Order: sequence, then structure tokens, then C-alpha cells
Amino acid sequence: MSNLKWWQTAVFYQIYPRSFADSNGDGIGDFKGITEKLDYLQDLGIDALWLSPHFPSPNWDCGYDISDYVNVAPEYGTLDDFKTFLAESHKRNIRVILDLVLNHTSDEHPWFLESKSSRDNPKADWYVWFDTPPNNWLSCFDGDAWTYAPERGQYYYHYFMKQQPDLNWHNPEVKKAMWDAVRFWLDLGVDGYRLDAIGTIYEDPNLTPHKSKMNLAEWRRFAERAKTPQEKKLRDKYWTDMFQYQWGQPGVHDLMKELRSILDDYDGDRMLVGEDDNIAYHGNGNDELHLVFNFPLMRAERITPGHIRSNQKQRLAQLEALPTKSWPCNTLGNHDSPRIYTRYGDKQHDAALARVHAALVLTLKGTAFLYNGEEIGMTDYMLTDISQVKDTMGSWYYHTIVTEMGVHPGEAMRVTAEMTRDKNRTPMQWSNNTNGGFSPASAATWLPVNPNYKEGINVKDQQHNPDSLLNYYKHLLRVRKKAPALIEGEYVPLHTTAKDYFAFLRISEKQTALVVLSFSREHLELDFSRPKEIKGRDLSLLFSSAVRSSAELSPKNLHIGAFEVFIAEVKYPPR
Ligand code: GLC
Repeated sequence: MSNLKWWQTAVFYQIYPRSFADSNGDGIGDFKGITEKLDYLQDLGIDALWLSPHFPSPNWDCGYDISDYVNVAPEYGTLDDFKTFLAESHKRNIRVILDLVLNHTSDEHPWFLESKSSRDNPKADWYVWFDTPPNNWLSCFDGDAWTYAPERGQYYYHYFMKQQPDLNWHNPEVKKAMWDAVRFWLDLGVDGYRLDAIGTIYEDPNLTPHKSKMNLAEWRRFAERAKTPQEKKLRDKYWTDMFQYQWGQPGVHDLMKELRSILDDYDGDRMLVGEDDNIAYHGNGNDELHLVFNFPLMRAERITPGHIRSNQKQRLAQLEALPTKSWPCNTLGNHDSPRIYTRYGDKQHDAALARVHAALVLTLKGTAFLYNGEEIGMTDYMLTDISQVKDTMGSWYYHTIVTEMGVHPGEAMRVTAEMTRDKNRTPMQWSNNTNGGFSPASAATWLPVNPNYKEGINVKDQQHNPDSLLNYYKHLLRVRKKAPALIEGEYVPLHTTAKDYFAFLRISEKQTALVVLSFSREHLELDFSRPKEIKGRDLSLLFSSAVRSSAELSPKNLHIGAFEVFIAEVKYPPR
């Protein structure tokens, strides 16, 4: 279609392996399960997969605490199962990228076990050690950033949980070991990596103490109550105050350049996407990361036309300004954030809004990332008992506010259920069989299945229903694939003061498309006849979420239904 790279035209689909498909009935997802679902994914129409960590892990942070970077967690299968999965994905033209956690390992990783065993072992300097805590830094998951290791009589640093000690990236041996792991999977044929938490890799060399008056639990309590714009601003300021010396420190760009050159040594076709929204991680546009997520688009209570426009204006201008232009990357959901359906719904028109939001990610300029389950409208599931909580960040918070702050356990559970990421990581709902078809009926699933699988929120029921959200995603993905304007076209906003709809053109050499996303509960009569790209031309329908009687439309009196997603080609006059 164009000379864009595969990762620019692709729609990625994030798989959370623990919750995707359980082939052996142990209540936990696995590679055989994922492989069995590849036909489903191919039929859905996605082009690439991002797998959250699949490595051996004690699971204090659901796999983001890795104890072996070059293997497969036994509960997910074997390395051979992984190879089969990769080959079967590639056979279907589905690329695969893995999660790369550079900042920290598990405290059960042999590197850490050796490092903590004495002060003079060969890996003594692989982590960040001090005789006494050198400052008041915090961990963003469990309070203090410094934890005592009695074996060595010293404290180690961890930005995340104490079971996730930070590696010392100033040590060249650490780099070498990690780059070997990176090559291990690239040699097996994986197509790239999603880079975890890169902002946390280096710390302020002066170890400057933070000046925040709050600790982590107090900050979370404050954040729960922040309702006004001022309170929310303060909430964000306090967070920055707490962590400013532990985040975004110099050194990461050089590291990303090194990593990029490793990838470029392969066939020029492997890619990196960073869990960060900082455009600076594109480097000059060609020497660091291929993509960084447009997280500012997600950072809103409601997705409004005004928010989207200002987001696009800023992001696209920043990307254009790089010496080598870089490519945008849009998403609205992942394993760390509430489900799109719940987060951006208004509780009255959630089903319609879910369609508008899907269309937004799939029609904006850039690579799109979807999160497993969003295509069937999976919703957040609120746990009710602390014994169910698997996200340790949540259980730490619960116990801390109950024991140290005297919060009533009922209230503590309510706020924990809201903040924990378990709510958006529940098992994929495949059918209306017991356990949502994720595991056999007799299995106890690792997190409860959201009971709304019985109410049509499951793949099987939706496959049979032509009007389902699943079939809507499929249809939209097919339309996108065939429309050069939606893949390579430049973005030109229209009607830029409209509050209840978002309209824009995507203009490529081969095609111009008009997209209208209505956020209105009323019908709209719109006039698009004036912009020079449309003037004197007709519209030919490419896609609509509404039922339309005619495919040829006049841009002058365009009738748009409530919450309609409308995509049309701007027809050039016959020659
Ligand atoms: C990233 C991951 C998150 C994890 C954290 C620590 O933010 O997305 O799930 O807990 O890094 O590895």
C-alpha cells in the first residue's frame, strides 16, 4: 500500500497471557491456549501481538518481576510451546513483540540472589546498594524505596515493589547480560519489544531527597478525594514532587540508542515501543524508539472532541518537528488502566461510546494498540474481598490504610477494588459456559471471571450476532486495512470548535477520507461542503455504525445519527 513499515500500518493487540486462554484447565492462561486462539485473532483482523511478560516469575507484580529472562513461565508452557506460538503467528502474518523489563528483576532472579549474598561477590554491583538508606525516596508500589537485606547487611533500592530490585545500569556487565537476553528472543524471530517503565532506569546521581510531605498511602488517599481541577492539579504535583529524582534522569537516551542499534543489526524490521509518552524517546526520529505511546490521549476522565483535537495538535506537531519525522501511536487501554468501556462510558450510552472510542483509535493517524477483551466490551470487575486481590500494589495499599491509617476494612476494600489493576485483568470471556469458557467449569480461575459473560459479553455470543461490538471491530478493522487514507493519510481537523462531534480528514495521495465521530445523543445536520478538500465533491460511504439507506451522500447536508461513527471517501470528480 505504501512504503510505510509494518509497525506503522499495524493494529497491535495486547495479550495478557495469564488471562487470555487456559488450555490445560489450571485456571491460568498459557501458550497452547493463545495458539489455539490465533485463528480468532486473524479473523478479528489484527496484525501484531504484544505479549505482557511470559517469563518465569514469582508473580509479585504479575510477571513484571522476572526471575529468568530467557525462558517461559512453567504455568504458560515450555520454550517449545512459545516457538510453536511464534511460528503459528507468523504463518498467519501476525507479528509478535515481547515485553522487556529493563529497570528491575525479581528478587528471586539468580543475579539478585548472588548480589545480595555478600558485599564482594561477582555480582555485588549489579544492583543499587547502600549501608543505610541514603535518602527518603519512596517506592511507587509499596512505600519505602530502600529494603534491608540481612545477608549482606545493606539496603537495596527499588522503585517498584521490594520484590523488584532495581538493576544498576551503570555496570557494563548488567548491560551485557540484558542485551544477551534481548538477542536471545530476536534470534528466535520475535519482531520487537515493548519497553517497560524506561523512565525509571536511572536515578538522580546526587540522591537528592524529595520534599513531599506525603507518603505513598497518604498520597493515594488524597488522590481518591481529589475532585476539583485544582485538587487534581495538586494531586499530580505531589506525585511529581515525590518521584522527580527517581524518574526521567539522564542516561536513558544513550541506553535506548544502544538497544536500537542491537535491533537494527537484525533485518531492519524489528521495532521498539516505549511505555512512555515522551517524544524525546524517538531520539532524532531514527536512532531510539520507533514508537512511544500517546498516553496523553488516555489521560482524561471523558474523551471529548476538544480533548482529542488539542491532543492531536500537540502530538503531531512534536513528531513532525523531529529531524526525522516520527510516527504516532494511539491507544486507550492496557493492563494498567481501567477498561475503556467502563472508564470512558457515561453509564447511559456506554455501548455506543465504546464504538466511538474504538473508531477513534482506529482512524487517528498512527499505529493502533488494542487491549484483549475490549473488542467484546469487557468491563472493570470490582473485587469484594481482599483474599481475591492478586495485584500486590492493591493488597499492600489495603493493609497499609487499614493498619496504619485506621480506615474501615469495608471502605478500604472499596477503594482497593477501584485502584487495583485486577479489575481490568480478569480472564477473557470466550463463551457463556461456566468460567466464561476461559477455563473448564471445574477450574478455579486465577482471578474471578466477570459474571457478565452470561449477559452477552463473550466472544461466542457476539460472533453469532451481526450487530455485536465484536463484529463492529472486525468490520472497522477490515475497512481500515483497505483504506489508504486511514493508514497513511495526513490528519486535517475540521469544524474545530464543535463540542459534540469530532470531524477530520485523512488525506493520502491515493485517497481522502472524511471521519465524523459523534459524541452527541442528538442527531446532527452538518455541512462539510466548504473545506477546499471537499468542495464540489461527493462522499461515498466507507463505514457507518448506523443504518444508512444510501452510500452516496452530499457533504452539504450530512445527517449524522446520535453517537454515529461515519467514514466516507471524498470522491474526486470523474475524469
Ligand atoms: C509497567 C507495567 C506495569 C508494571 C510496572 C513495573 O508500568 O506496565 O504493569 O507493574 O511497569 O514493572
